[in-house]
Amino acid sequence: MMRSFLFVPADSERKLAKAEDANADALILDLEDAVQAAERPRARALAREFLTSRRNQGRENTWVRINPYDSEEAADDLEAVMPAAPAGIVLPKPPGADAAVRLAQALDRLEDEHTILRGQTRILPLCTEHPRALFSLDSYIGSTPRLAGLSWGAEDLAAAVGASTNRDENGDWLPTYTLARSLCLIAAAAASVPAFDTVYTDFRDESGLARYARAARRDGFRGMLAIHPAQLAIINEAFLPDRQEIERARRIVALFEAQPDAGALALDGQMIDRPHLLQAERVLAAIDDTPKD
Ligand code: COA
Ligand code: MG
Repeated sequence: MMRSFLFVPADSERKLAKAEDANADALILDLEDAVQAAERPRARALAREFLTSRRNQGRENTWVRINPYDSEEAADDLEAVMPAAPAGIVLPKPPGADAAVRLAQALDRLEDEHTILRGQTRILPLCTEHPRALFSLDSYIGSTPRLAGLSWGAEDLAAAVGASTNRDENGDWLPTYTLARSLCLIAAAAASVPAFDTVYTDFRDESGLARYARAARRDGFRGMLAIHPAQLAIINEAFLPDRQEIERARRIVALFEAQPDAGALALDGQMIDRPHLLQAERVLAAIDDTPKD
């Protein structure tokens, strides 16, 4: 189960070293916005080295964020890291699902070239960073079997629309970004892949992150991106169902099992029907060995 992805700027040996023991479900070595153009060649070499050493330790959960697929840099990024077989590619600023499809075709060739199993490399698009993308998010449906989920970003979208900020005075998303976030969530559901919420940039605000992540899970996100190792434990916990939810889910499943012909049933004075059963089954499927108290 993927709950937390940690971004690690690939030009920072210090952060790469720190990331070795970080408790992330997956790492994302960044070659894009967190790395200056002049540092990219070095970052690519470091990313490749890191991926290789990780694979040698049997850890296969390392992703790479390349530059936008239509930039000249993306080809160099892929050339550098594909020999080391990353778990997947995080795709920034795609104008639409077409960029993911073309990336998938490039990966077909690169996997063959480096004798990697065809289709092994997954793709995670940041599907709202380009303003045009928001008008065609349904095109992710059936786009490529490599699609591992959808995530979104608010910083590039804000820059694209010319906004001076994307949050209000309480730190909550302004309407443009709430819209983008919801569209990402809905598009992911339509494409039958998980949605991952975007980064929480105020990395010292642990209680704010905990609240945000719980709300994200409540809304339907399956995990979240992180920018700092201290965010991981909070995110990992927030995306597990709590005991009350698990108990309720067990009761709903049991109730329907006891009355298999019923469409709608009553539980604690509330109507429950098929969507509730599906949600209860999802909660039970998501339980770790150690559900939180
Ligand atoms: N991955 C790995 N290690 C990280 C890290 C990350 N994303 N963020 C911080 N660390 C390390 C630091 O290097 C430091 O290690 P050290 O004790 O060996 O020096 C330790 O964790 C504590 O870091 P801290 O001092 O609290 O933060 P910082 O000021 O060094 O870094 C940021 C703050 C925001 C610059 C940093 O967290 C970062 O680079 N995040 C990722 C940015 C990114 O990738 N953005 C692109 C996606 S939006
Ligand atoms: Mg960006």
